Amino acid sequence: MNVLVLGNGGREHALAWKLKQSPRAGRVFVAPGNAGTAIDAENVPLAATDFPALIKFARDQDVGLVVIGPEVPLCQGAADAFRKAGLLVFGPSQEAAQLEGSKSFCKKILRLGNVDTARHWWFTSAEQAIEDLRLLHADKPNEVPLVVKADGLAAGKGVIVCDDLAEVERAITAIAIDRELGDAGDSFLLEEKLVGVEASVLAITDGKAILPLPPAQDHKAAYDNDLGPNTGGMGAYCPSVDIDPSMLDRIVAEVLVPTVHTLKRQNAPFSGVLYAGLMLCAKGPKVIEFNVRFGDPECQPVLMRLQSDLLEILLATAEGRLGQLDPPTWDPRPAVCVVMASEGYPGPYKTGHVISGLEAAAQLPDVKVFHAGTQRDAEGRVVTNGGRVLGVTALGDNIAQAKQRAYEAVRCIRWTGAWCRKDIADKAIAVPAADLPVPLNAITL
Ligand code: AMP
Ligand code: GLY
Repeated sequence: MNVLVLGNGGREHALAWKLKQSPRAGRVFVAPGNAGTAIDAENVPLAATDFPALIKFARDQDVGLVVIGPEVPLCQGAADAFRKAGLLVFGPSQEAAQLEGSKSFCKKILRLGNVDTARHWWFTSAEQAIEDLRLLHADKPNEVPLVVKADGLAAGKGVIVCDDLAEVERAITAIAIDRELGDAGDSFLLEEKLVGVEASVLAITDGKAILPLPPAQDHKAAYDNDLGPNTGGMGAYCPSVDIDPSMLDRIVAEVLVPTVHTLKRQNAPFSGVLYAGLMLCAKGPKVIEFNVRFGDPECQPVLMRLQSDLLEILLATAEGRLGQLDPPTWDPRPAVCVVMASEGYPGPYKTGHVISGLEAAAQLPDVKVFHAGTQRDAEGRVVTNGGRVLGVTALGDNIAQAKQRAYEAVRCIRWTGAWCRKDIADKAIAVPAADLPVPLNAITL
């Protein structure tokens, strides 16, 4: 079966690489892809949002499954467009993708499903929000909501976590008066700042069964010790050590199951990856946000550990028979992914630097270098083409060994201005492998 993957990041390289390993896979195409997907699969020079051209390509090439990687095409209705054209798709409908694309839709589903989340207040006027805040501050200064969120999709920039009232007012001004995020800031919410351990749980669901994936831990801050600006993710390890089996059970029962049920009741049945961003608070897990796709870079260490056939799993989901599948098998060894980034990221950066050492890194055992922002230049050299450039991923007998192998591979690779965090997975190194959480089987709803 031929497969078409949409997107061009590290997540899509990992998906295409794993899909290609399936005994059932024919040609695996990635649109538009990067220099890495061109090696492990075949690139198609079409934008991930050019639906008419992608549909024509899929029909011409006899594509049996379309896998949609990023949130932008999903929120623009990619899955609906392909389904209407008679193609099989892994990914949620536009309606269901609003769970990520619209914070108001997300909060509505959480409320209807009785799923715990931060207390919040909606505004469309900056003046009104600031007036209400000042009144509340005069009355109950400790209860001022400190998180400001734009309603719409804002490429990871729509959330501002503040420390005091002045900062909140500046954030409101940036979103609702200076319109720094454009239409995404037409409405915004002020939210209670949650305290606890942040964790994410990803599950594959066809709306009838839920298959939780082994939890992975992202590293969102740019610099070591979680300092510096927020990024798309500077590294990840799997399994996460913050979620033990009983907490995973609780998250499935209290968050994933009611969310999938509620979406179905709202005529927006969900099929694809449901990614719950959570704060593990004293009283239990609270939802910070949902994403409707694999996390990037979380996808890379998770798929390094998957031993089962990914194409089988994604096909079964697209066909609504996930509950009938045998539980997938996972490599018991943990995996660590270190993101190598361009100088300046997450701010402005230059592209076009020649990357060396990729072959040497690829020789190392249990290492896979996933490409993100890369392309080939006119001379055929692999050059940088984005902020997050590579996701260097390794398996090890324990997290310490996986980390050491990933950084050994990182040291082989060079380009002008390349950098990475040096502390990916450090928080998990002390945990013995025997205590690492075991993933669950599919739960039928
Ligand atoms: P998001 O873009 O929704 O993933 O939010 C970015 C980051 O902001 C999250 O990963 C959290 O670290 C933080 N955040 C979002 N909402 C809250 C909240 N209500 N309380 C504390 N931190 C939050
Ligand atoms: N790594 C966070 C995300 O994919 O949203």
